[in-house]
Amino acid sequence: MYRPARVSSASRSLNPYMVCFVVAAAVVILAVTVALLVYFLAFDQKPYFYQSSFQILNVQYSDELSSPVTQKYRTLSGRIESMITKTFKESNLRNQFVRAHVVKLRQSGSDVIADIVMKFKFTRNNNGASMKSRIESVLQQTLNDNGTLAMNLSTELTPLSDQDTVNMLTQVCGTRPDLITLSEERIIGGTKADRGDWPWQVSLQRGNLHRCGAVLISSTWILTAAHCFRSYSDPRQWTATFGISATSPEQRIGVRSILIHNNYKPETHENDIALVRLAREVTFTRNVHMVCLPEATQNIPPGSTAYVTGWGSRRYSGSTVPDLVQARVNIISNDVCNAPAGYNGAVLPVMLCAGLPQGGVDACQGDSGGPLVQEDSRRLWFLVGIVSWGYQCGLPDKPGVYTRVTAYRDWITQQTGI
Ligand code: ARG
Repeated sequence: MYRPARVSSASRSLNPYMVCFVVAAAVVILAVTVALLVYFLAFDQKPYFYQSSFQILNVQYSDELSSPVTQKYRTLSGRIESMITKTFKESNLRNQFVRAHVVKLRQSGSDVIADIVMKFKFTRNNNGASMKSRIESVLQQTLNDNGTLAMNLSTELTPLSDQDTVNMLTQVCGTRPDLITLSEERIIGGTKADRGDWPWQVSLQRGNLHRCGAVLISSTWILTAAHCFRSYSDPRQWTATFGISATSPEQRIGVRSILIHNNYKPETHENDIALVRLAREVTFTRNVHMVCLPEATQNIPPGSTAYVTGWGSRRYSGSTVPDLVQARVNIISNDVCNAPAGYNGAVLPVMLCAGLPQGGVDACQGDSGGPLVQEDSRRLWFLVGIVSWGYQCGLPDKPGVYTRVTAYRDWITQQTGI
């Protein structure tokens, strides 16, 4: 029987299920596209940085304002920052303003000029030019803090690239990534440090092996413990490395000279401090820059939080680690630290104790010379101690003992001019 060839009907007429599927898929794709568009235009916020300068109206410039770590500089900067914050919080840009930070106070005649970096968050449907003029219009009034301080915008606002912002803030001592990005939240999690978290941490190496920690205090000077050089004090034997990996560092620089404190006494650990001059300048980057040195009079209250960092061993008589580790400790008063069950008088006034009463968190072998730092209210980090000694590591009542940096502030200036 002959049957004409038949084209399958299924492939010619449309299958209703197929139609439904295609339509549904198209609707879903469309909805997702629209949702993404709306999200990016209306909700996704991108950070924008601006720089500007303010003239402070009722403060006379004085010498104490020439250094960023004096009480006067820190108080004035804090007040300027809160004045700007308050102004934006009361304006129609309250949701866009993130943070303001004083980068520098400088002199202009007898007046004070403050250079400020500000961070905003805008959605993409705002254009840069209109945001700039909206910000300027908020700032084009005399800002005051209902006290004695007032200031005026003295230059136009300049938009900054992310890189400009990083460059400006890495010139300032004691800045960490959260400050460099002027972010709202700060995170110090876990024990392993992230890149750039402790940019002033240095590894002092002999034969390319980590031997001691140290701290970057200028582009050519690092601070460490005198006992690091007890057996080897020839600068040619030493190099300094920068960056969180001691085995594959971001920069490696030779040592020009080593200045050990004249009165360093190994038996008592007294004056366990040394300065190392680098063979050339360090290049400051997001991940490598200096800590702030406290003034000799800076107060370090017992009970306050501090962080110690290093590549030292994780337990007594262990080996050093390749990636930088951080530990959160509390400042302990010398009286408590010198209790009979503790160090029984061995902690001198030029030393500082930090740890936890129950033990468990401490610096250890290989951390020597490294930094103990504290954050101030403007999120700048100050060096308060240098890892010096302790009875084993992390035992109860036997906290870490540090060289008290404030006690050597003047010595540092005499040796380096810093
Ligand atoms: N002296 C040790 C070193 O050379 C550091 C000791 C710190 N000890 C302590 N328990 N906090 O690395």
